[in-house]
Parts: sequence; C-alpha cells; structure tokens
Amino acid sequence: MTFEIQVKNLTKKYPNGIKALNGVDLQIKKGHLFALLGPNGAGKSTLVRILTTLIHKDSGSFSIGGISPEHNFSQMQKYIGVALQDNELDPNETVVSLLRFQGQLFGMTNKQAQARAERLIDLFKLNTEQNKKAGKLSGGNKRRLHCALALVHKPKVLFLDEPTVGMDPQARHMFWDVITDLNTNEKVTILLTTQYLEEADKYASEMAMIIDGNIQYTGDIAKFKDMMHPNKNTSLEESYLTYLNTLTNIENN
Ligand SMILES: Nc1ncnc2c1ncn2[C@@H]1O[C@H](COP(=O)(O)OP(=O)(O)O)[C@@H](O)[C@H]1O
Ligand SMILES: [Mg+2]
Repeated sequence: MTFEIQVKNLTKKYPNGIKALNGVDLQIKKGHLFALLGPNGAGKSTLVRILTTLIHKDSGSFSIGGISPEHNFSQMQKYIGVALQDNELDPNETVVSLLRFQGQLFGMTNKQAQARAERLIDLFKLNTEQNKKAGKLSGGNKRRLHCALALVHKPKVLFLDEPTVGMDPQARHMFWDVITDLNTNEKVTILLTTQYLEEADKYASEMAMIIDGNIQYTGDIAKFKDMMHPNKNTSLEESYLTYLNTLTNIENN
C-alpha cells in the first residue's frame, strides 16, 4: 500500500523554544478526506505549514504523491495546494486579478489564467465580489478566495487549515459542495483541520488527533466514536470531548 501523504517522525521547535511537533507519524491514503483534529496550539497549523513547504522541519521526513521537497521541490509545488488559516493577501488587488496572477505564477498564459479565474469565481460564487479589493472582503469571502487560489493549478492534494471560519451557513454549505465534489469526482486528497467537529463528522472518513505535538489517535472516525462510546452512535464532537476529558483525568490522577 502506498500512501499519498506519508510523514515520518517529524519534529519542529520554534526559535522561542516551543516544541510544536514531537515526532509526528501520519499516513493518508489517496483520495481520502482526512481530518486533523486537536485543541488550539496542538500543532495542526505547524504540520500543515511544514507539509506545504512554507516552513522547515527540524528532523524527520515526509513525501506527498511520492515526492519529497528535497527531491523535487517544484514538482511538489505543482502537486499540492494550500489554503491557510491566516495567510495574507495583497489587500489592494482585486479577487479576479489575484486569481489571474496565481495562474500566471503556475505558467498559464493570460488567456488560460483568465479562464481559470472565471471558473473558480463561478465555483466559489464570488461573482459579485470579483472586482472588489481583497482587503475589502468579509472574513468568509476571504476564506473562499483562499480556497479558490489554492485550486488554480488543479492540485492533487489539498490542505485546508480551518477553511470555514467566518462563513455563514449558506457559504459553508456551498463551500462543502465544492470540496466534496473535488474529493469524490476528481479524487483530490484532502487534509482538513477544523474546530467544527460536525464538519469533520459529516465529510471526513479518517482522522488523526494531535495533542501537544503528538499524534494520539489515527484511524477511522467511526471506530474512534465507537471506542469512546461503544454502540451508542454518538457524534464526533461528543466523542472528542470524552477523549479530552479522559486524558485530563489521567493527568490529574
Ligand atoms: N511562528 C511561531 N513562533 C513561535 N511559536 C509558534 C509559532 N507558530 C506556532 N507556535 C506555537 O506552536 C504551537 C503549535 O501551534 P499551531 O501549530 O499553530 O497549533 P494549532 O494550529 O493546532 O492551533 C503553539 O504552542 C503555538 O503557540
Ligand atoms: Mg492552527
């Protein structure tokens, strides 16, 4: 079995001494929609930033689609797309120009980049926003733009770091329609982080739980729920809270 995302013993310590990752191992199968869950500060965004080559790891290794960044950095850039939690956009550029520019960065002609921009504007229902400057967008529309930007070059693996924060229910629904379509019909592998556990419950099939830079559970979401509340068919949120409570109780005893 080959894995689309393979992470081995990854560590990361920030210059301020915080150990964000303490030997993370993770394996994600091709075509899966995988949820990376855990409390604030657990290391989720750090892991996403390392896997998308935005920051360096300290030690360990990883590959995506069989490509490692040391091996072929530019091929890896084409293979992956990322929508970050707190990425900066040029506030003075319009939605359509940012999308077009992204296409040109990936080697598209002006015409191709324009067509791709229009397609993504349609897909994410940003039509009424397309000539607005990025700095003037609402939080939810900014997230949609981040996701659209991540998809310009048609990546095979997509990283979404808390993508739906600030979206209203309608936008969220529309967003998940686009993402599940990509996952189901175009077989894009997706790694999602979210604090909205009902989203992970509804759309993801496998998960990892990360706490203090350590992966504590990885596997089926259904199995995780059954492990926490056998035969009760509880929600992921309830199981997640039970899991965290159990850990706190163990620590306190
Ligand atoms: N740039 C940074 N410099 C120093 N510490 C950081 C930086 N980014 C994150 N951290 C710390 O690393 C830990 C993991 O953070 P992060 O990966 O953002 O967690 P999560 O996304 O799960 O909330 C936290 O303790 C956080 O404060
Ligand atoms: Mg984060």
